[in-house]
Amino acid sequence: MSNETLFTEAVTHFPGGVSSPVRAFKSVGGTPKFFKRAWEAWFEDEDGRTFLDLCMSWGPLILGHAHPDVLSAVAEAMQEGLSFGAPSRRELALARRIKAMVPHVEKMRFVSSGTEAVMSALRAARGFTKRDRILKFEGCYHGHSDALLVKAGSGLATFGEPTSAGVPKSFADLTLVVSLDDAEGLEKAFAKYGAELAAAIIEPVPANNGLLVQDQSFLTRLRELCTKYGTVLIFDEVISGFRVAPGGAAQRLGITPDLVTFGKIIGGGMPVGLYGGRKDIMGVVSPDGPVYQAGTLSGNPVAMAAGLATLERLTPALYAELDAKAERWAKAFERIPGLHAPHFGSLVWPLFQSGVKRADRVESGAIVQFNRMHKLLLDQGVYLPPSGYEVAFLSIAHGDRELAHFEKAVEAIQPSFQPAQ
Ligand SMILES: Cc1ncc(COP(=O)(O)O)c(C=O)c1O
Repeated sequence: MSNETLFTEAVTHFPGGVSSPVRAFKSVGGTPKFFKRAWEAWFEDEDGRTFLDLCMSWGPLILGHAHPDVLSAVAEAMQEGLSFGAPSRRELALARRIKAMVPHVEKMRFVSSGTEAVMSALRAARGFTKRDRILKFEGCYHGHSDALLVKAGSGLATFGEPTSAGVPKSFADLTLVVSLDDAEGLEKAFAKYGAELAAAIIEPVPANNGLLVQDQSFLTRLRELCTKYGTVLIFDEVISGFRVAPGGAAQRLGITPDLVTFGKIIGGGMPVGLYGGRKDIMGVVSPDGPVYQAGTLSGNPVAMAAGLATLERLTPALYAELDAKAERWAKAFERIPGLHAPHFGSLVWPLFQSGVKRADRVESGAIVQFNRMHKLLLDQGVYLPPSGYEVAFLSIAHGDRELAHFEKAVEAIQPSFQPAQ
């Protein structure tokens, strides 16, 4: 069946025809590609066309699609049972590996998604501090739990407004929202509410509204303020964890959070999340402490096996290789007239604008241009994330052959982007 036929049926089953909104291609237009099978940096859609994948399942596949080591670990684990709902040795093996790579994870709990990890970390922080209010940054995404589907209200350092219907205003009232790259707003927020804040949560490398890399001084100051006011600093490393360095953004930036959330790569393509960090804070989590949190499929043995097989291949040398790769791909992107491609680790953000550090500074014209580029590249067999606010993900499978394919595609679309005379 073709993509078109499948999508026509899909809209009768699912809102927008999809299991997660951005997949519906609403921003870029056209029919979503139905993936039939994927390998390395490539996939084939249901129309039988092959594409170079620059979305890579939104981040988990740092080794590429269907890596043989991950597949065989999964196959081996599967033979012993799909789910136990009881402890198993594979959780310990993955935990050991995580602790070796991220020393500030003293204690951890596995969950099944990034959303769940963040939601649970916030509850632990609230239970630990016995405070209710939290602080987040505009432009960071932390999954779809109620407390975090919140944007800034009007005025400086105000509590938020829901960004989704169905989120009670009273929940948003507990979430303070500060802009990224706003050192003054950060100071004011803490001066006014610091003593009431259970947690401050940030993506240390914000990568959900484009790639909004922050100044080191901003993050250092956030760390200082959290320490001063007894606020739990949570680094949401669902994207950056195990991607930008073995110890994630915390290691790369030299800033240690109190709690951290992971997802994506630690599951190697299977549904896994994790929250962890200081053992005194994690000590409040049930059954050791009074903060309840549980999951039928938490620590699922097959998912643990996929995660471990992935993390075992992540050596420091590999990160240097990924960084160098991103540099080359960014250069290739920038051959499109007007395009800039900021990058961090193996994340690259193609945008027709430069120097953006805040989500509200992205110009609508830049997104219109992105949408045009998305379609043109798709015609050339290159699949970018279907939104201009999303970053492209590279993997170790993006090698010379893939870069050559990409450069050829770029060359083909260049005439559509001639700079204005
Ligand atoms: C930084 C960050 N936190 C949390 C989440 C939510 O993770 P999940 O989609 O696994 O629920 C995401 C998802 O992209 C994310 O990028």
